[in-house]
Amino acid sequence: MQFTAKVTDISKQRSACAIITADAKNRLSNSGDALDKACGGAIGKILKRGDLGRKVGSTLLLNQVEGPAERVLLVRANDGVLSQAEFRKMAKASAEAVKGFKDATSYLTEVEVTDADNRWQAQQLALAAGLATYKFTRCLSEATANPLKKFTVHAADRKQLTAVKRGVEFGEGQALGSNVARELGNLPGNICTPQYLAGQARELAKKHTNLTTTVLDEKKMQSLGMGAFLSVSKGSDEPPAMIAMQYKGGKAKDKPVVLVGKGITFDTGGISLKPGMAMDEMKFDMCGAASVFGVMNALVEMDAPINVVGLVAAAENMPSGRASKPGDIVTSMSGQTIEILNTDAEGRLVLCDALTYAAKFKPATVIDVATLTGACVIALGSHATGLYANKDKLAKSLIAAGERAGDRAWHMPLWDEYQPMLDSNFADMQNIGGREAGSVTAACFLSRFTRDYDWAHLDIAGSAWNSGAAKGATGRPVPLLLEYLLGK
Ligand code: BES
Ligand code: MN
Ligand code: ZN
Repeated sequence: MQFTAKVTDISKQRSACAIITADAKNRLSNSGDALDKACGGAIGKILKRGDLGRKVGSTLLLNQVEGPAERVLLVRANDGVLSQAEFRKMAKASAEAVKGFKDATSYLTEVEVTDADNRWQAQQLALAAGLATYKFTRCLSEATANPLKKFTVHAADRKQLTAVKRGVEFGEGQALGSNVARELGNLPGNICTPQYLAGQARELAKKHTNLTTTVLDEKKMQSLGMGAFLSVSKGSDEPPAMIAMQYKGGKAKDKPVVLVGKGITFDTGGISLKPGMAMDEMKFDMCGAASVFGVMNALVEMDAPINVVGLVAAAENMPSGRASKPGDIVTSMSGQTIEILNTDAEGRLVLCDALTYAAKFKPATVIDVATLTGACVIALGSHATGLYANKDKLAKSLIAAGERAGDRAWHMPLWDEYQPMLDSNFADMQNIGGREAGSVTAACFLSRFTRDYDWAHLDIAGSAWNSGAAKGATGRPVPLLLEYLLGK
């Protein structure tokens, strides 16, 4: 899809659909007014009739108005300045309503939003449009994609255009990254294996000279002492991979941010087998890795002026005669020993070795992203990603990035008081902490491998995918991460 920012005259525009707003008193924005005049007041009449819903974000499609616009989409605003959440609702609803047309022009930049400028508005509009047009068609025998090919965001004048343009470009990048993550997440476990992910990383490096990929195989990981990681992959016939994508868009001396993704391409639980219900959703257990791929793809597309390493710990968690058993003790790359009391707590086992390995890149900051715990879903549901950090400043800037992007995280405690829950009688630690505070103790486990650098952990178990009728990967937290890396 093509995204553009443009100063348009609505009475002369040729778009398949013009998206305009009406406030609570049925007042149109500037361009809406101009369009209404050009249509001889037809839009005003329809509004007076009360056909547009009262709720913010309600939409009404007019495809019969005589005038310059082929179609008009009315979107309800409120009676004053909109909150950011309200604006996002409008952006999302309008994107959903126009995704079936070949192009659309949005005039939603004409409303006022609390603490937000035109750049932010344009970004949200482009992001919403990009997300709305994504559809998983890879495994359908007859694929039909959404037809929206061009999305234009209106700017009032030349001066505003610069801001709108920047916003559109950034939103486009966020959408692209999110959709890469969604596609990988949605792929089934029999297609999206650890080797498939490694192939994706190699392909990305082939296409872009400022990105290089290295893949560590089982033998190499063995020689590095990654006993925790390999204790997970050894039950599976799928060979594991530790994938490193190094993007160099910044100065050579700039320390990189390292993003670490949990890439369990299918999580059966291993010998601590999961119940059958909804087990298919454990194909999404690589959504952390998918979000790292999403960010790396967006960075190369946007030519971002920063250095970032994407590190993906890819393995399949299966029960078999070679699988780890409860009570097994393994030695991690850090030298710390781990008693595996539950083979279903495998994410932390692959991540701990990836986090130790991450130090090799001399990082400015390390952020891991993982569908780590069901307990996080119980604590926060699907709206917030769980955020843990060993530096408050880092936590605050990630929270702020999530707020700006509309991809929010919530700061969870990483207090020392929780650490003894991981004490083992037989090893340096055990891999589970008991029933209480399951998301916190998982983070505590990881914190034992991240003492040498600034680190944050994003538990996306609740936010990475939707269940039910809308089952599918969300692409979160790609918008948050890109906002953190590149936003103001
Ligand atoms: N991938 C799961 C976490 C998960 C479960 C995410 C359900 C989303 C929905 C993870 O590997 C896991 O199984 N965690 C266990 C840990 C427990 C054994 C301590 C869990 O959350 O039950
Ligand atoms: Mn598991
Ligand atoms: Zn898992």
